[in-house]
Amino acid sequence: MRIVVTRNLPEPALELLRSAGDVRVSRQDRALEPAELRAAVVGADGIVAMLGDRVDAEVAEAAGPGLRVVANVAVGYDNLDVPALTGRGITVTNTPGVLTEATADLAFALLLMATRRLGEGERLIRSGTPWSFHLGFMLGTGLQGRTLGIIGLGGIGRAVARRARAFGMRIAYSGRRRAPAEVEAELDAEYLPQAELLAEADAISLHCPLTERTRHLIDAAALAVMKPSAVLINTSRGPVVDEAALAEALRTGGIAAAGLDVFEREPAVHPGLLELDNAVLIPHLGSATVETRTAMAVLAARNVAAVLSGNEPLTPVGA
Ligand code: DGY
Repeated sequence: MRIVVTRNLPEPALELLRSAGDVRVSRQDRALEPAELRAAVVGADGIVAMLGDRVDAEVAEAAGPGLRVVANVAVGYDNLDVPALTGRGITVTNTPGVLTEATADLAFALLLMATRRLGEGERLIRSGTPWSFHLGFMLGTGLQGRTLGIIGLGGIGRAVARRARAFGMRIAYSGRRRAPAEVEAELDAEYLPQAELLAEADAISLHCPLTERTRHLIDAAALAVMKPSAVLINTSRGPVVDEAALAEALRTGGIAAAGLDVFEREPAVHPGLLELDNAVLIPHLGSATVETRTAMAVLAARNVAAVLSGNEPLTPVGA
């Protein structure tokens, strides 16, 4: 069995893959260009892919008829053309669950950074700007008693809600589906239509997948509905937010601040955002802990090993 891995993985995952087949890891250790990816996968029975690798019908064709599994090392899988792959009988898997807590931690860190102006304070100190403590210096806003609006109350959205509850926040949410009654009860979460959520929330945190429905879900019109004091947090996918519209809203006081871990055209960031002190910008670190990234890679490897040995995958997509 030939297993093609598009970027280096933690050793425990590679070890697992080696027990399932002949493992070829791309030496580039970066997202491969489409032609590079097609060349790399020739003859593959399994592909381990990740963010930035566009795996579609052409890649499946290039791999050949032996391709049985594409395992994404991410919970999001907008980089994969799932219908094209599953339509060819190829199993597609992702890595839900194992990154929930790490991503929720990061979302909450961004919320604290944005509301307490921590990035701005850090830059001030490092720039050597003189400062001294006084009562009106660099005031932010507290979270207690404020409403957190969560768009997409799945696993990560719920984990963020639990953290917010511990900070004394009220939880409201919107999404395609209403959460089960026991989840609403645990979080004391109120379901609201999206327009109402945007208008009422003091902070909005995005936890929806990127689909055609959610592309630019937060555009100029959505931002205009939000309170001027509101904060936007995005740890989902960059294109869920219209970055140009966000930069404009932050510049003109349409909303107060934003915390972004993901960007529309990663790794590029809209130049308008780079100039703004009220934009906290982090380079896609949601799941970036040693434990979490290892668990993600191992889960992807276990999915490949299961499929190539004729067993059911652990975490299939689009099944
Ligand atoms: C995910 O798992 O989707 C993260 O964004 C890492 O790619």
